[in-house]
Amino acid sequence: MTFDTIRLSPALGAEVRGLDLSQPLDAPSVAALRAAWLEHKVLVFRGQRLDVEAQARFAACFGPASRTQAPDTRSREHNPDRRVLLITNIREDGKPIGFLPDGELQFHSDSAFLDRPLMATVLYAVEIPDRGGETLFANACMACESLDPGLRARLEGRRAFNVYDYATQVKSGTLDRAGLPQAVHPVIRTHPETGAKALYVNRLMTEEILDMPPEESAEVLDTLFAAVERPEFVYEHVWRQGDLVIWDNRCTQHARRDFPADQTRLMRRIGIAGDVPV
Ligand code: SIN
Repeated sequence: MTFDTIRLSPALGAEVRGLDLSQPLDAPSVAALRAAWLEHKVLVFRGQRLDVEAQARFAACFGPASRTQAPDTRSREHNPDRRVLLITNIREDGKPIGFLPDGELQFHSDSAFLDRPLMATVLYAVEIPDRGGETLFANACMACESLDPGLRARLEGRRAFNVYDYATQVKSGTLDRAGLPQAVHPVIRTHPETGAKALYVNRLMTEEILDMPPEESAEVLDTLFAAVERPEFVYEHVWRQGDLVIWDNRCTQHARRDFPADQTRLMRRIGIAGDVPV
């Protein structure tokens, strides 16, 4: 099987053309795709018609699926082994049937609040609104390289506290962390496959840099978040039904734009298990 990759932005992202993911991929294609993915960090496949099994088979080419830690919802009924997460605003009896139902999401790396965050995420667009809901991907390696050398030296060996509240889709604030998933990770992590350094603090989940006075931590974090979010480091994905996107959570962050609450957005997500960040 052969395919073409078309760069989607100067910073990151490539569209892969010529593959039908409803069919199994042969070993050379998987190896070539993995290499393209490590290079471009985000791969986009347009016009795919995938059921859950086909999406899971594709995801398995990159690694074992992770069982979601997200709280119980109706989608669990259709997903007893907890490997598929519905990202959707569909509600039944007023309750979301999936996760991350509403509107805008700030930049983050998936499940950075776990000791072993997701290595990769495979997201498939089943139904999308006619406007909004775009996903923005940021190259966290470029963000790291862009830092002032003095600041970068101050961050060597530093660790940060990450926490998240699924119920509110925002980080906890300092008051009530108890019972929320939380983890401490390096501020700068090293990609285990490429060796590249990436900023691993994010606006949605990172609350503080440890062993730093609170005001200094807040100021440094603001600088780091702004570095990740610089427009020249970002690719914005405008979804079409049938798009499949896989991104590398070890070196990218992503955010979501708002979308109309009265229109359906239904995405199927499979997370791929990751290591402890170092
Ligand atoms: C996510 O953060 O995993 C969801 C992104 C999206 O809904 O576009």
